Amino acid sequence: MSVLSCWPHGQGVGVVVVVTLKWVTLRLYPAATDLAREAKVDDVVGGHFIAKGTQVVTNLYSCHRHEDFWPRPDEWLPERWLPEQQAALGPRSPDAFMPFSTGGRACIGRYMAVLEAQVVLAVLLQRLELSPPKDGTPEVSVKQAFTLKSSQGVPVSVKPLA
Ligand code: HEM
Repeated sequence: MSVLSCWPHGQGVGVVVVVTLKWVTLRLYPAATDLAREAKVDDVVGGHFIAKGTQVVTNLYSCHRHEDFWPRPDEWLPERWLPEQQAALGPRSPDAFMPFSTGGRACIGRYMAVLEAQVVLAVLLQRLELSPPKDGTPEVSVKQAFTLKSSQGVPVSVKPLA
């Protein structure tokens, strides 16, 4: 099964596919997993008292897989991002997906990162067929380094397209 055959309508290599693969991947495997902040004043967040000076860490990995915000949260579903699937599979809050953080301190390089990902993916998918290895698709396991990484690599079979 090729990577692109996961796409339900089989459009081939199109902008929609490339953009969607990017969003699907950043939801399940956000490169930056945590946002750390220090409380400037006493506050109450979600019913929890946060004293001034407390270090607060928001775990994006968990937010992106939280069942309150995502139907079928652990599934890799490219169609989740199609406009017609938003009601059934889309995020339940506008802030449920934040791989680049949100607000005034959101990633300054996000547009560059998105552009780079689109160009690299488009070039690769035009030239190569990427499939799971013949002996089956292993579960991807991750490790927390400064950014999120695969702990044992991501085995993939690569064939040049004719
Ligand atoms: C997939 C790629 C990327 C991801 C997932 C990502 C994610 C993030 C996140 C989550 C933050 C917020 C950190 C925080 O507030 O604690 C951030 C901040 C930042 N990112 Fe990125 N980033 C990416 C690519 C880039 C690139 C390509 C650049 C530069 C060309 C960049 C430059 C920055 C800078 C300068 C900040 C600090 C912004 C500020 O504090 O005002 N990032 N990034």
